[in-house]
Amino acid sequence: MRDYLIAPSILSADFARLGEEVKAALDADADVVHFDVMDNHYVPNLTVGPLVCEALRKHGIDAPIDVHLMVRPVDRLVHDFAAAGATFISFHPEASEHVDRTIGLIRDLGCRPGLALNPATPLEALDYTLDKLDLVLVMSVNPGFGGQAFIDSSLQKVSAIRARIDALGATSAREIRLEVDGGVKPANIGEIARAGADMFVAGSAIFHSDDYPRTIAEMRNNIAAAVR
Ligand code: DX5
Ligand code: ZN
Repeated sequence: MRDYLIAPSILSADFARLGEEVKAALDADADVVHFDVMDNHYVPNLTVGPLVCEALRKHGIDAPIDVHLMVRPVDRLVHDFAAAGATFISFHPEASEHVDRTIGLIRDLGCRPGLALNPATPLEALDYTLDKLDLVLVMSVNPGFGGQAFIDSSLQKVSAIRARIDALGATSAREIRLEVDGGVKPANIGEIARAGADMFVAGSAIFHSDDYPRTIAEMRNNIAAAVR
C-alpha cells in the first residue's frame, strides 16, 4: 500500500449516483472508500447500512472499503459489514460494552479492526488495544455530520498517537494506520501529515469540489511538501 492514503467519505457524495461517484473518486486517484454508518442513536444522524456496502461491491468497487461505525450497539453490525465486503471496520470505544471482544470479532471475521477516538476521548482508549488494531481513527470533528470545521487540538493528539504507534513499531510486524477524519482540506492536510497521520478522510473537500482529480492531486502535493 502507499505511504499516504486518501479516503473520500461518501457522506458528501451524491447518493442518487453513489456508484458513479465512488468510481469517479477512485479514478481521481483516491485509495480507499470511507463509509460512514450513523444510527440516529450513537450520533444524531442516519445514513446507510450493509446493503449499500454490498451494492458498491456488486457495482465493481474493489478498492478497500473503510467502514466507520457510529452506531450502538456495535457487534451485530460487524457481522453484517464483514459479509457485505468491508475491509476496515472502525468503531467508537464508548459504543461497545466489550471493546477487546469487538476488536477480536472484527479480526476473526477477516476484516481490519480500527478504533475511532472522538475529540474528547482520552488516549487511554489505546491502552491494551493499540497492538491489536490495524487503524486508529482520530476524529477531528464531533461525529455525525460532514462539512464541520477541523478542531485544532486534534493535531497534538495525532502526534501523541504517532509516537505510540512508532514505539510499538519495533516489535509489531503489522502496520497500524493513523487516520484523521473531519474538516480535512487541501489547505490543512500538510500539517496533519506532519503531525503523523498517514490516512486522510475527506468528504466535502472532495465531493463538493468541481474537479476530483485536481483536489486529490493538490492534497497529495501538499502532503509531499509538508513531510519532505
Ligand atoms: C463525520 C464523518 C466524516 C465526514 C467527514 O462524522 O465521520 O467521515 O464525512 O466530512 P468532512 O470531510 O466534510 O469533514
Ligand atoms: Zn467518518
